[in-house]
Amino acid sequence: MDNGLPISIVIFGASGDLAQRKLVPSLFNLYRKGRMPKQFHIVGYGNTAFSDEGFRAHLEEGIRKFASFEFNEEEWDTFAPHLVYQQGRYSDLADFKNLAGFLKNWEPDSGNRIYYMATPPGVFPNIVDLLGLTGQLTENAGWRRVVIEKPFGMDLASARSLNEQIHKTLNERQIYRIDHYLGKETVQNILVTRFANTIFEPLWNRNYIDHVEITVAEQVGVEHRARFYDNVGVVRDMFQNHLLQLLTLVAMEPPASFEANALRNEKVKVLNSMRPMKAEEVARRTVRAQYKGYREEEGVNPESMTPTFAAVRMQIDNWRWQGVPFYLRSGKRLKEKLSQITIEFKEPPHMLFPSKDDRLTPNMLVLYLQPDEGIHWRFEAKVPDTIADMRSVDMEFHYADSFGKTAIPEAYERLLLDTITGDASLFTRADEVETAWGLIDPILEAWESQDQPLAFYEPGSWGPIEADDLLARDKRKWSTWDGRVE
Ligand code: BG6
Repeated sequence: MDNGLPISIVIFGASGDLAQRKLVPSLFNLYRKGRMPKQFHIVGYGNTAFSDEGFRAHLEEGIRKFASFEFNEEEWDTFAPHLVYQQGRYSDLADFKNLAGFLKNWEPDSGNRIYYMATPPGVFPNIVDLLGLTGQLTENAGWRRVVIEKPFGMDLASARSLNEQIHKTLNERQIYRIDHYLGKETVQNILVTRFANTIFEPLWNRNYIDHVEITVAEQVGVEHRARFYDNVGVVRDMFQNHLLQLLTLVAMEPPASFEANALRNEKVKVLNSMRPMKAEEVARRTVRAQYKGYREEEGVNPESMTPTFAAVRMQIDNWRWQGVPFYLRSGKRLKEKLSQITIEFKEPPHMLFPSKDDRLTPNMLVLYLQPDEGIHWRFEAKVPDTIADMRSVDMEFHYADSFGKTAIPEAYERLLLDTITGDASLFTRADEVETAWGLIDPILEAWESQDQPLAFYEPGSWGPIEADDLLARDKRKWSTWDGRVE
């Protein structure tokens, strides 16, 4: 509920990429749409020296370059005065006292505060400690919320200790752990597709679904993040968070309500129904691969074993999903940028029509998350003017056709607005993050300790042949990449 108090949004790491490309463009767009609170200011905090003017110019450049909407000088001129800058270190008590004084000055009585960690993860705990020590997390009439970017830990142990550390100063309800995939319209639409329609839910189980594929393919390589990425790899970067989040939304039971904890309880239940892989299962159920040329990238160890692609077969041991494999894959330097979820249905129980290979092409529901957002239904139709020849056809929904080409906002817009209004449904809870790590840890450990071979793939391909073998072992194939008829 809006308490009407002024709000300060403090961005740590304000001179970095995220603030320039995503956070401030999103806040500006919320402002253009009239969704920002009446009284707000955005305080950039970082090591880099900036005057307020210099900071604004740097952000204006980012908006002109990266925002999906057209830059409007007049709107910017009214928004820019809300942006101010405070130079400071992340480990210096005096600098945090300065920040506290600066904020207090702006909100003489009381105010709401969001502290956004857009810094390297190593400094999150330090920042939270110093905010606590300088009294900045103490709620009065105004609330305090802390937004934490990923990666949240490097494994289960570090995620646990990070949770313990921040829980010393913060209550879980004040913590907003970001997974930007949850801010994507098409990802939120998974729940609407499932629970606002009657036609899908009766089929959404092991009786009708053969398997589920979740693919997040990227065309870009590691770019300027090589040093960070080489210590992390694709499983920590994409699976522990984005891909497992997608899986929970596809697999969860209908929540009792759309309230944050009701929703997150159901997601955690899915993760808890998944058995962590035993070491001996990892070789059979996972593939790790690296694109050729990765080791020559600047900042990468020339002998790096870091995977830039992985494919994993997961299973959910509950009534709804017993025996239905979930195949997850993600990689960099692949042929196209494409995120999609394919629900492949079982064959009809009896073959009534003659067919060349005695098999029907399975029905498929493909949720296109990006870039051509939409949903495709694939089913069989009779080819006209034949006795009973069949062919697969598509029924398609494209966001661009139904809602317009510019209808889909940047994921961060929604997440920032939810932080301001206090809705944590699209943020991950402590137990959720830890349970997800519990599933990822055994894979990483087995890869490292058992020396599972690293496969290589051509940049611009769809990944290594070993990923095809993973499905071939189950007598299955990945659905075609664009989800259309083969
Ligand atoms: C980030 C990863 O979380 O997601 C990046 O750290 C990745 O490596 C990015 O490129 C992909 O996000 P999107 O929204 O472009 O699919």
